[in-house]
Amino acid sequence: MTTTMKSLVSCFATASILILTGCGSEKEELKEKKLVKLKQDDEKGQFILKFSHVVSPNTPKGKAASFFEQRLEELSKGKIDVQVYPSSQLYKDNAVLKALKLDSVQMAAPSFSKFGKIVPQLALFDLPFLFKDMQHLHRVQDGVVGTKLKELVTQKGYIALNFWDNHFKQLSSSKKALVSPSDATGQKFRIMSSKVLESQFHALDANPQMMPFSEVYSGLQQGVIDGQENTISNIFTKKFHEVQKYLTITNHGYLGYLVVMSEKFWNSLPADLQANVTQAIKDATVKEREYAEQLNTQQFNQIKAYAEKTGNLEIINLTKEQKDAWKQVVSKIYSDFYDEDKIGEDLIKGALATE
Ligand code: LMR
Repeated sequence: MTTTMKSLVSCFATASILILTGCGSEKEELKEKKLVKLKQDDEKGQFILKFSHVVSPNTPKGKAASFFEQRLEELSKGKIDVQVYPSSQLYKDNAVLKALKLDSVQMAAPSFSKFGKIVPQLALFDLPFLFKDMQHLHRVQDGVVGTKLKELVTQKGYIALNFWDNHFKQLSSSKKALVSPSDATGQKFRIMSSKVLESQFHALDANPQMMPFSEVYSGLQQGVIDGQENTISNIFTKKFHEVQKYLTITNHGYLGYLVVMSEKFWNSLPADLQANVTQAIKDATVKEREYAEQLNTQQFNQIKAYAEKTGNLEIINLTKEQKDAWKQVVSKIYSDFYDEDKIGEDLIKGALATE
């Protein structure tokens, strides 16, 4: 649970008052029980599961992490104390993968790009215009291609739990409105650590700059970069739209996550608690997909309202022909990743052919 100790200390102080005054909610009572248990667990050894991520709590991943926290604590009857750390509070971007190996943190859901050095094949999901829609994407993740990718992650010593969504990415800039692919020429775009994204922007004759997620807002504000690509939910919750002039609805690429756990932590759990983790992640994944749809829609409305109110942001909707022009330029890069050490022809063609 986020800031567990803080809430437990405050709970300790307030729990008796709440009970005396008769206004102690079930939640408060539960917290008090947890506090007592945590004290016992100091002696007994409770399992603490730290879940680190980089986005805001009000994003699909942030909300699903909180849902998972509640669900696992409930299923494990408090034997696993889940502590969620959002917004890069613990680790930035791919640093979390090293920390998982050391069991300094037990769980994370890095975006596929962040696995680049460990399982480059996950960059399959970064390939622009590879998926027709979210349904197609889910069929790829839930089918043979997804299973193969999870196996590759398992071989590297992680427990690959499940795929989580954010959504499709949009392009923004403060330099020039992005309507046709040539508008991107020469512009500096922030990218995640992904060879595919690097190639995507090179195909546009643009200048990709790798940068941790936590530095994008200041990078845009200070003009270190001209633009960026991300989902509506990440753009809105980190206020990127407030430091950009143009937002183009391209839906050109997908941003999603693989939820991974420290192998050491997983192996330390008795079988019943492993089953609880599996169930909690299954339930959280169903919710996560719902949050991804809801939040990206709601937050787009909030960005539109901001644009109308301030006049500081132009939102550009592309026609089918305009979108096809982007697709034509950037999808040329697929064959550069046919090599098995990069992504692999089988995986790329397998994803494209998934019905
Ligand atoms: C990014 O770096 O833009 C994303 O990977 C952030 C996230 O986790 O959604």
